[in-house]
Amino acid sequence: MCPPHTSCTQPQPQPPARTLTPTLPRNHPSTPHLANLNEYHDLYQESLRDPDHFWRAMATSALHWDQPFHTTRHGSLEAGDHAWFLGGRLNASYNCVDRHALATPDKPALLYEPDTPATSQARPQQITYAELLREVCRLAWVLRDLGVRKGEIVTVYMPNIPEAVVAMLACARIGAVHSVVFAGFSAPALRGRLQDARSRVILTVDEGVRGGKTVAMKRVVEDAVGGLRYGGEEADVQCKCLVVRKTGSPVPWCQQTQDAWWHEECARWPGYSAPEAMGAEDPLFLLYTSGSTGKPKGLLHATAGYLLGCAVSGKYVLDLHPADTMFCAGDVGWITGHSYSVYTPLVLGLATVLFDGTPSFPTCARYWEILARTRATHFYTAPTALRLIKKGNGNAYAAAAVHNLERLRVVASIGEPLAANVWQWCHDTLDGQVHVLDTYFQTETGCHAFAPLAGVTPTKPGYVALPFLGFNPVLLDPVSGAEIRESGTEGLLAFDQPWPSIARTVWGDHARYMQTYFAQHKGYFTTGDAAFRDRNGYFKVLGRVDDVVNVSGHRLSTGEIESALLSHGAFAEVAVVGTEDALTGQALVVFACLKNDLEDQKTKSQLRQSAQQHIAKWIGRFAVPRKVFLVDDLPKTRSGKIMRRILRKILEGEENEFGDLSTVNIPFP
Ligand code: WT7
Repeated sequence: MCPPHTSCTQPQPQPPARTLTPTLPRNHPSTPHLANLNEYHDLYQESLRDPDHFWRAMATSALHWDQPFHTTRHGSLEAGDHAWFLGGRLNASYNCVDRHALATPDKPALLYEPDTPATSQARPQQITYAELLREVCRLAWVLRDLGVRKGEIVTVYMPNIPEAVVAMLACARIGAVHSVVFAGFSAPALRGRLQDARSRVILTVDEGVRGGKTVAMKRVVEDAVGGLRYGGEEADVQCKCLVVRKTGSPVPWCQQTQDAWWHEECARWPGYSAPEAMGAEDPLFLLYTSGSTGKPKGLLHATAGYLLGCAVSGKYVLDLHPADTMFCAGDVGWITGHSYSVYTPLVLGLATVLFDGTPSFPTCARYWEILARTRATHFYTAPTALRLIKKGNGNAYAAAAVHNLERLRVVASIGEPLAANVWQWCHDTLDGQVHVLDTYFQTETGCHAFAPLAGVTPTKPGYVALPFLGFNPVLLDPVSGAEIRESGTEGLLAFDQPWPSIARTVWGDHARYMQTYFAQHKGYFTTGDAAFRDRNGYFKVLGRVDDVVNVSGHRLSTGEIESALLSHGAFAEVAVVGTEDALTGQALVVFACLKNDLEDQKTKSQLRQSAQQHIAKWIGRFAVPRKVFLVDDLPKTRSGKIMRRILRKILEGEENEFGDLSTVNIPFP
């Protein structure tokens, strides 16, 4: 039954007709945490009916508290002051490292897979919990020595290497806030994020290596901080920069940063440093993500609520057990990496695989080989990577490798819908022996908001199944804002009560936080996605209703790309839209009007290319648009708003379905 305080009139979700009922996979270490779907229903309803009791029990059992909390839940979505576990004190690095280092010091915590594969017989490089503790403590000393104080933001611009995890945990240990910036961002994008956070300490590497190519990351940092000045300050910022020696190529120390080698600094300090007891609501990290406007927003997560979301979703959704090994292929620079490469496996005391490469280098067998070598039980990736492997003959490799994957039980995907055919391919390729889960979450939700529970929830390919504990989803009518109660309908996806791992604010701009998520529909958190609910209460996510585009699992704002393009100088007006792409999910397409006087200076093809290069320079190569159309005019409403909807329809070949065109200029000659 629906919880009594909600006005929901739907029947209790029942497994839809066309589902695949889970069976216990081979080699399950014990039994799933929940025995069946009824146990999920009971737990779920308790989480909504009595959140105080439910989350108090969860938080007490899942986390180590230095001081117990007195108030489980405070505030409301409407007021934007929701807070959890008040009065409680804890340390995230203690929860993720120390308690496991004490209990199982020799257990592997990190398994590292570099870009260039080792021979298939070679064991992966391992870091045990005891070693991880020492590394985290040493860096904690170094950070303190660099003057980093509680609450200060440390920027981590690193690839997927163990030091990135050490960096995050060392910040957490001393109460500093980490801001990991995806290694694919260019210097200006990094600079914008440094500036917004007013960050003065940067952790990076000499060079990154991806797909066999090196990327001069320290150079990018140097470019990002050159002449950097924070508002209200007279002089350029003097940043401190700690550099991991990864490739060993010479990197010149620069003028404006006080540079030091990571290993030299860490070697000077002892292998233990006491963790700082942090308030439950003290920030753990901020992570920049794209919104509707040009400026990325730093979403801030609170220590206890976020960690709890990781622990509870890892346990119930992924069905993680102590002997499991998690391989999440997401980058540490995005929320997937934060939650499911780092905090979930470590808070549960498991081994996590960090892979610093790409799915197709040197061949599309790479993921399968890593899974075989690390003997991983869980594989988390994006549909775009699965499509790439599928296309790149991944099934042939998988067929050859599948006998080596005897420990693999769960394959989960995130970032965009896992199409039924890809779901089926994955299921068949792995001999029907694994649970293939389509999971849904956002940087904002911190942990899963929807997912089938591994081993428990019957799967319906194409659907993200049922809401996770504590999430009460509603579908809203986009015009009236009213809740849509009928099943078999779609609407704006929102949640009507706070959950522990919800992001607490946009760094430095709480008004923007309120405006983006809570203002349009009072009393709800709006996701920015549309969703469909079938008659059995199963949900399907239909895609964004704002200007966010998802390319290969990278969340991009069309507004951000438009602002970058306008700084190019040749374009008077631009509009960027997302279009469907068989491999990357969505791809970016630019419609640009030239400034008249510039038209003759370069050929159109040169201009198209230079627009693409400009995006690579200002945002990063991963954001380069697939196509640039140079047009005479853009379709606009009478009030001058660019009608991106029409541009999207043109790309979809639906030119004849515009409806009334009296307000529109069609841009094609
Ligand atoms: C947006 C959030 C690698 C990104 C991790 C997510 C989309 C996420 C699904 C899914 C359909 C999905 C949504 C969401 N999305 N999962 N299973 N089916 N769409 O974090 O970068 O904050 O992106 O990803 O549009 O709002 P994010």
